[in-house]
Amino acid sequence: MFRVIKCKNKTEIAEKVSLRIENQIKRKKSSLFILPTGSTPVPIYKKLVKDCKEGKVSFKKVKTFNLDEYLGLPSDHYERYYNFMMRNLFSGIDINPSNINIPNSEAKNFSREAKNYEQKYRDEGPADLAILGIGRNGHIGFNEPGTGIDSVTHVVSISESTRIANSRFFDSLEQVPKKAITMGIDTIMSAKEIIIVITGKDKRIILDRFLKEKDFDPDIPATALLKHGNVKVYVDREAMGGK
Ligand code: PGA
Repeated sequence: MFRVIKCKNKTEIAEKVSLRIENQIKRKKSSLFILPTGSTPVPIYKKLVKDCKEGKVSFKKVKTFNLDEYLGLPSDHYERYYNFMMRNLFSGIDINPSNINIPNSEAKNFSREAKNYEQKYRDEGPADLAILGIGRNGHIGFNEPGTGIDSVTHVVSISESTRIANSRFFDSLEQVPKKAITMGIDTIMSAKEIIIVITGKDKRIILDRFLKEKDFDPDIPATALLKHGNVKVYVDREAMGGK
């Protein structure tokens, strides 16, 4: 079951979702969030940074677990999700660096890193709130079509369609990593509340398919959310086809 919240544009979504995050922190200072990367959350992160700088919210006790991380990029690569998060959110807020969790793409053994990441999350979690985007192929995190609903954090081969979609951030398709570590669908579903944000005309087709499904369809991993009791889907007019 989920509730669809139709908004005018990305700015309105950023206002609403950042307010939900800030209210969660007011209720519980040590709230734990699962966070996404990609272009979708950028306006939300901008608003959180602004509000933190203006003293409206403090992240001092907040804990975060990122959904996923590319493997195989140099540590200073612009598109490495660690660097994305520092640039777009963490360097602009007062979070304690030791409360930030992102899979370590420099680990010697990636399967072990995935296992340890899952364990750390389970020890500290469950998340109070998970914020998600959706891939054009329906993925959440890097859980590509065909991923089991019972999956936990694992090493994944990124699908060709996702590599093509993400190549807009790189100089060429060859530079897009082929592997990543991602939280599994079961890991994400453990969050007490989930917000999925779907914006822009590139998401029209997947939004349409997603909203028509009545049960989990492994071809559209995001449909796992239908089995969660507390999901809000924030969509903008562009993704709704101008409606
Ligand atoms: P996007 O990516 O926000 O850049 O569209 C979403 C995703 O692939 O999960």
